[in-house]
Amino acid sequence: MKNTQILILDFGSQYTQLLARRVREANIYTEVLPFDTSIEKIKEYPLLKGIILSGGPSSVYLQNAYKIDSEILNLDIAILGVCYGMQLLTQYFEGAVELADEQEFGKAIITIDDKKNSLFKNVNTDSQVWMSHADHVTKLPVDFKQIAHSNASIAAIAHNTKPIYGIQFHAEVTHSLQGKEMLENFLYDIAKCNKDWNLDDFIDQQIKEIKEIVKDKQVILGLSGGVDSSVAAAIIGKAIGKQLTCIFVDTGLLRKNETIEVMKAYETNFDINIKLVDASDLFFSELKGIKEPEAKRKVIGKCFIDVFTDVARQHKDADFLAQGTIYPDVIESSSHGASSKTIKSHHNVGGLPEDLKFKLIEPLRNLFKDEVRQVGFKLGLPEEMINRHPFPGPGLGIRVIEEVTKEKVEILQEVDAIFIKKLREWNLYNSVSQAFVTLLPVKTVGVMGDNRTYDYVVALRSVNTIDFMTATSTHLPWEFLDEVVNEIINKVDNVNRVVYDVTSKPPGTIEWE
Ligand code: XMP
Repeated sequence: MKNTQILILDFGSQYTQLLARRVREANIYTEVLPFDTSIEKIKEYPLLKGIILSGGPSSVYLQNAYKIDSEILNLDIAILGVCYGMQLLTQYFEGAVELADEQEFGKAIITIDDKKNSLFKNVNTDSQVWMSHADHVTKLPVDFKQIAHSNASIAAIAHNTKPIYGIQFHAEVTHSLQGKEMLENFLYDIAKCNKDWNLDDFIDQQIKEIKEIVKDKQVILGLSGGVDSSVAAAIIGKAIGKQLTCIFVDTGLLRKNETIEVMKAYETNFDINIKLVDASDLFFSELKGIKEPEAKRKVIGKCFIDVFTDVARQHKDADFLAQGTIYPDVIESSSHGASSKTIKSHHNVGGLPEDLKFKLIEPLRNLFKDEVRQVGFKLGLPEEMINRHPFPGPGLGIRVIEEVTKEKVEILQEVDAIFIKKLREWNLYNSVSQAFVTLLPVKTVGVMGDNRTYDYVVALRSVNTIDFMTATSTHLPWEFLDEVVNEIINKVDNVNRVVYDVTSKPPGTIEWE
């Protein structure tokens, strides 16, 4: 965007997105670009004040190490190298980087050597940081000085005359207790950025742009009931009202009463057209006999595309297809080469046939999830809609283990509804990141009254996570679990045993399939 003041060049660190969020939280608009972005491209940003070189898993001394266009170093802007970024700067300015004897992973204490340095304004002489490196700087680059050290490494360097800095640690991670101060010092004092990124302006700007682009044409949008598509619908609805038609596909694999609740929420909160398509019979018939998780995902994805294509054909008068794509989707789908991340494709667009030539509208494609939530609040969406736990595209289809049938889904819906209702009653819902139930293809023996039972086992799962890449199981109170189990066993037929999944990710994944 034209107000970008900071660019982050990505060398594939798992923390790159976090770095970008920290910059946005400082009210400065930033974008993440591949590490090998050309100088010409970088010069297209008229307000650019600084570049941050991210960390990355590689080593700068390897033959095929990822490099930047070195012309970048001659631009009259501030530069901060983080971890791999600092090692790369060291190499460009003729210092040395080698594999360390003592590698640092985890918390470390750094001691500031240059107390007066702007990077360390309001930072204690000894400060806890998060380190994650095997290589380290063994000879300072020419014209640089060491400004902080840890027991094992040179922790920060600064150019003697230019605003070029390197830090070996990850200031963006919360374990770096004063990392926020250091990043803000870089952004405000060194790069001299203005705090001009705010979501109110963003919303006004988007509404104006959507009006200009759409004019008097029609737009369709596939709603999932999740945060991203809801907020996209809200902002587009605000711009063009009834020119927007939202399509909500009932796959039969949604949570209990979800179809009714989602439709009601949209009808109450939005002045747009909403169309419910009941396709549950198709999904159940296509899923018949299929047990393997990936095969189920494929079938569900295909049914979804078929249904959506059908509906889209009926809306041939629509020129635009809107989507709730958000910035992490954009970063993860654009191959940065350096990135070790799995590349996701957007199944909702990817599969539409060629003859449906919609133009795309993606009003949230520059926003992070927490920013999307804030936009939702600002547009007046209800709290329950915005703070909903994520729900996977294939829905309960991957929470009924092995073959999916309507009967099994109904059992699971009942159990899951009890778990979620209880989490809300105990005020736990908003403190856990994602909670749900999985129905196992196992029956066990039990006793109810005087009778022997032989019924299904369900597994409760609740996790806490920041990025869903790693997660820990929630330490739910035992009394709470007791209450949930009692209600499930007493109220839901066909279930006589409940287990709680305490596996973290890794080694487990969040979903069972
Ligand atoms: P896993 O199970 O991979 O899940 O640890 C991480 C997060 O992604 C969600 N998830 C999915 N979302 N389609 C989706 O849209 C999928 O196929 C899918 N699989 C997992 C999961 O619910 C969790 O939030």
